[in-house]
Amino acid sequence: MDMDQRRDKKGIRVGIIGASGYTGGELARILLGHPRVEITCVSSRTYAGQSLGQVFPNLFGLSGPRGEELVCEDLAPIEVAERCDVIFTAVPHGVAMEIARSIMGIIDVKLIDLGADFRFRDAGVYEAWYKKKHEAPRLLAEAVYGLPELHRALIEKARIVGNPGCYPTSAILALAPLIKSGMVDPSSIVINSMSGVSGAGRTPSQGYHFPECNENARPYGIPGHRHTPEIEQELSLLSRTEIRVSFSPHLVPITRGILTTAYATLDPASASDSGAGRVSTDSLIQLYKDFYRGERFIRILDDGRLPQTKAVWGSNFCDIGVRFDERVGRVVVMAAIDNLVKGAAGQAVQNMNIMFGIEEDCGLDRPPVFP
Ligand SMILES: NC(=O)c1ccc[n+]([C@@H]2O[C@H](COP(=O)([O-])OP(=O)(O)OC[C@H]3O[C@@H](n4cnc5c(N)ncnc54)[C@H](OP(=O)(O)O)[C@@H]3O)[C@@H](O)[C@H]2O)c1
Repeated sequence: MDMDQRRDKKGIRVGIIGASGYTGGELARILLGHPRVEITCVSSRTYAGQSLGQVFPNLFGLSGPRGEELVCEDLAPIEVAERCDVIFTAVPHGVAMEIARSIMGIIDVKLIDLGADFRFRDAGVYEAWYKKKHEAPRLLAEAVYGLPELHRALIEKARIVGNPGCYPTSAILALAPLIKSGMVDPSSIVINSMSGVSGAGRTPSQGYHFPECNENARPYGIPGHRHTPEIEQELSLLSRTEIRVSFSPHLVPITRGILTTAYATLDPASASDSGAGRVSTDSLIQLYKDFYRGERFIRILDDGRLPQTKAVWGSNFCDIGVRFDERVGRVVVMAAIDNLVKGAAGQAVQNMNIMFGIEEDCGLDRPPVFP
């Protein structure tokens, strides 16, 4: 039986490797409510034998395909692949490429990796920034960067998707229309981001311990955070020149959410070419609305609204606001996402929907939680 015949019988058979982590748990939360999916296995080494409801209190009592709670198993990747049409790897970088090597080409299965192993076009960039040899360069070469708003047609045909990082999702979506328009100086881009603590995953560590991150805001990884080359790769594809950015992440005492604010100076040459002497906040809002027309998960804010993390909580939305600061000739763009949803599990499910030719918002069509 090929993949299409198996899928028609029971829906898409899905496995999650790394189901006990924050993004794995969020995948389970979303997929348990997905009408076209059957979760066939959830893999975890630490929690093998325990139900998902024991691992995550919010998933207690929610049943899998046979009406029973899903139970974590410690499975070899090939055992997961035998039960699935698609596997989500929600594991630390370096692990997914080993998993992919052991199953791709052996079993007819698709793979969506939530980590960094399949995000780069050039294995050398991965190796330079992640200080690790890429063990599956041929699989990397066929992988597609899973940002649907930019690469939908490639994702449709992909066997392997590298799901974008959380910061890059917010930064690339915030800047894409501006870079594509050519109206800003590509060397002027500065990106400041704030992230909630769930961005660091579920494994405890001192800097993320409650007394140290509560009532605290701190920068980290400046300069040279590992998400920088991902942002540069994708923005460069939209530009006539290679893009280099200054990217500064900050940890803030919220559980979920990323708020990114990006700045770019109007390029005087291209501004006068395009008649952009008349650039205004209104014209920028229109530019963004045109660029993202028809995109289900992008909300361009107008009427004086600005993005905030609370307005996208638990949802796959990316809210974007843009302003022109005429006094200094600078564009300011702000984007808010939930790092675990549009920044990870929700976007991964959006990619799965595209790869399997079903409605893109299937299982994701829920309003954010507020307040
Ligand atoms: N947190 C976010 O907001 C976010 C956003 C975007 C992308 N990501 C990326 O998504 C991935 C997962 O992040 P997370 O936040 O969910 O991390 P996490 O909470 O620390 O969970 C990591 C998971 O990976 C499993 N794991 C660890 N080492 C493994 C190995 N050698 N083999 C198999 N499984 C292993 C762990 O399960 P067991 O130990 O039980 O097997 C655990 O379930 C990372 O690559 C991260 O960079 C995270």
